[in-house]
Formats: sequence, structure tokens, C-alpha cells
Amino acid sequence: MRVWVKRDDATGGAETGNKIRKLEYLAAAAVDAGATHLVTCGAVQSNHARATAVVAARLGLRSVLLLRRRPGEEPRLVGNLLVDRLVGAETRFITPEQYRSRTALMDDVAREIGAAGGRAYVIPEGGSNALGSLGYVRAMGEVRAQLDAGAAGDVRRFDVVVHACGSGGTAAGVSVGASAYGVADRVLAACVCDDEAYFAGVVATIHEGIRELAPSLPAPAPLDFDASEKGPAYGVMNDDQKRVLVEVARADGLVLDPVYTGKAMCTLRAAVASGRVREGADVLFLHTGGLPGLLAEAQAFEGAL
Ligand SMILES: Cc1ncc(COP(=O)(O)O)c(C=O)c1O
Repeated sequence: MRVWVKRDDATGGAETGNKIRKLEYLAAAAVDAGATHLVTCGAVQSNHARATAVVAARLGLRSVLLLRRRPGEEPRLVGNLLVDRLVGAETRFITPEQYRSRTALMDDVAREIGAAGGRAYVIPEGGSNALGSLGYVRAMGEVRAQLDAGAAGDVRRFDVVVHACGSGGTAAGVSVGASAYGVADRVLAACVCDDEAYFAGVVATIHEGIRELAPSLPAPAPLDFDASEKGPAYGVMNDDQKRVLVEVARADGLVLDPVYTGKAMCTLRAAVASGRVREGADVLFLHTGGLPGLLAEAQAFEGAL
């Protein structure tokens, strides 16, 4: 097997990671709509919320982030949350139960901003709607150009693209883009939460939206979800998974994160072991970022180093 890494952990500065691909479209729509505020949601250590906050500051907009905290969790000012606050985001903590009504809660915030004379643009969890996902269709066009320029040697088309899946937008865009640009035969999305059936539903809805927005795009490449390396909980790795993260960092200087990309790498390894990805495959591993989340987890890694 040969593995190439698309370094979407290096798409920018403090806003870096996969979310900037979606925000390229979503923030433009917000500016076009005359927004004064970006409103979004995520976990306390959400990379998406951090990227949204940084982009808002860059565009001269305010941001309001609804952040899900676990019962009893006292959010520490580290990692993504530190950056959120540094760039002036308003952070409001909500419970997991409230988070289930996140869309309605964000609409409430938008009304509140409207009543105060502003205009809010609401971005869904992970920036994962049809418009945001177009960023990953375009990203596959970028990979096409890199392949054509010989960036992966003799490879003209990958067997599979492997990446982490947390809210479905990346999977939706990558699968359409892989097909549109002939980048890969199929896509393997490593679920870090929920399960395969949940993401199949979410992505089917986004695909429908993409068809409406851009009818000339082809049907998506075959897309499989795999939740087998979800680990003990969202954001928590088991000891084997931590070992993989440390091993990859030391072998290649490729630093993965415990919430998303580390679990995607574990999924790739498991898929090779099970034959789901064949031994001789040419694989594109999409590094979607997440370093601030790792830096917020020092304690979890003390015993693994
Ligand atoms: C670093 C990182 N990788 C992957 C993902 C998953 O992408 P998506 O939300 O589009 O499924 C996210 C966000 O959820 C992320 O922050």
C-alpha cells in the first residue's frame, strides 16, 4: 500500500484545517447577505467554531459560538477555546441536551442579534450543508491538478480517499469531487461519533442539496462509512489508538489529533488489516487538521509518550 497525505491541516494560519474549505463559501454568502455576525455551534474544542471565529474577525464580523459542554465539565481556556476568545468570539456554553436543539437555539441567537439591529448568518454544525460542502468538491479539483502535475509520481487516480467524518460535509463534498475530477474510485469516511446509518442519512441530504445547487456535478463516488474506530467516546482515544498517533508522529513527523485524524488513521489501518482496503492500494489520506484539539489534551497523552 502507498499512502499520500493531502495536507488540509495546512490550509491557513489560526483558521487552518478542513473547515476553511467550507467557510470559503459560507463566509462569502454571509458577506453577500450583509451579515454583521456569524453564529455557529460545536463542542467546546470545536475546530469548526474556532475557524469560524477567526474568519469572522478577519472579515470584521462578530461571532457567537454555542459550545456543547459535558455535564460537570469546566471548559478550560486552552486549544480551540483559547483561540475563540482571543479573536473576540462570544462563547455560550450549552448542555448536550440543549445541543440536540442546536438549530432552533442558533435561530434564537439570530433573532436576538436582529432585535439589537444586527444581522446574523447561521452556519450549521461543522459548516456541513450543501453550500459548505462545495468547498470539498473544489478541493478534489485541486488534488486533480496536483496529480496532473506529478505530485504523486505515477499515480493518476487513487483507489480510495480516507478521511475523518464528524458532521458529514467533508464526506459529501469529497465523494462528489472524487467523481467529478476522477480523483479516486471510492471514499472511506471514518466516523468519530454516531454511526454509519446516521451519516448515510446526513450525507444523502447534503448530496440532494448539492444536486440542487450545482446540477451539472456528477453523482458521488461510492462512499462507505466506518465507525469501528470511534473509540471509547467522542474526543477520547483508547491506548491502542494513542499508540498509533504517537507511532505516526515519530515515524513521519505527521502529527494527527485525537478527535478526528488520529481515528481516521486507525480506521485506515484496520481497513487494511480486514482487507476492506487492499494491500497494494494507492490511498489518499486527507489530513483535516485539529492540532489545537491535541494541544488541549496534554494529560490524556502523558502515559503514552
Ligand atoms: C480536524 C477535523 N477533521 C475532520 C472533521 C470532520 O469533518 P466533517 O465535519 O466535515 O465531517 C472535523 C470537524 O468535524 C475536524 O475538525
